[in-house]
Amino acid sequence: MNAVIYVSKSGNTKKLANAIAKGAGVKAQSAANAVNLTQAEILFIGGSIYCGRISGVLRKFLQNLDQKQAAKVVVFGTSASGKSIRAEVTSILEPKGIPVAEESFHCKGSFLCVNLGRPNADDLAQAEDFAKRTGKGGL
Ligand SMILES: Cc1cc2nc3c(=O)[nH]c(=O)nc-3n(C[C@H](O)[C@H](O)[C@H](O)COP(=O)(O)O)c2cc1C
Repeated sequence: MNAVIYVSKSGNTKKLANAIAKGAGVKAQSAANAVNLTQAEILFIGGSIYCGRISGVLRKFLQNLDQKQAAKVVVFGTSASGKSIRAEVTSILEPKGIPVAEESFHCKGSFLCVNLGRPNADDLAQAEDFAKRTGKGGL
């Protein structure tokens, strides 16, 4: 079973999460009110970069995540620069024995007057395809 969890302040990563969830064949859930998160074979986790870091809500979710809830994590996200959340997610999860896949999906997200319209339809189609390839059975 796949699962998709995200944190999104202005909706950019939420759009990506819904595309990833479509590809993975599940429903995306916000980390703030995720339910029934048990034994995901692939847990897709999405977030963004704010002042160089992931959000406090996502950090707390990762700190509370238990090895029994996810066999493997695949990250995705948006940021103004295209910077990935993978390194920070990995630094929290791998010491707890939760592996984070090398493969991840990131694209630019709109911020003020930068990257207007991103993620766009092409980004979302690529995200859905990524989830189809890397979801259960793909990695
Ligand atoms: C307060 C704030 C700080 C940000 N800092 C960064 C940053 O350091 N680096 C970056 O690439 N993008 C930065 N961004 C842009 C966001 O990462 C980008 O808009 C992202 O797509 C937001 O995703 P969300 O709509 O899912 O919250 C920042 C945005 C905000 C609102």
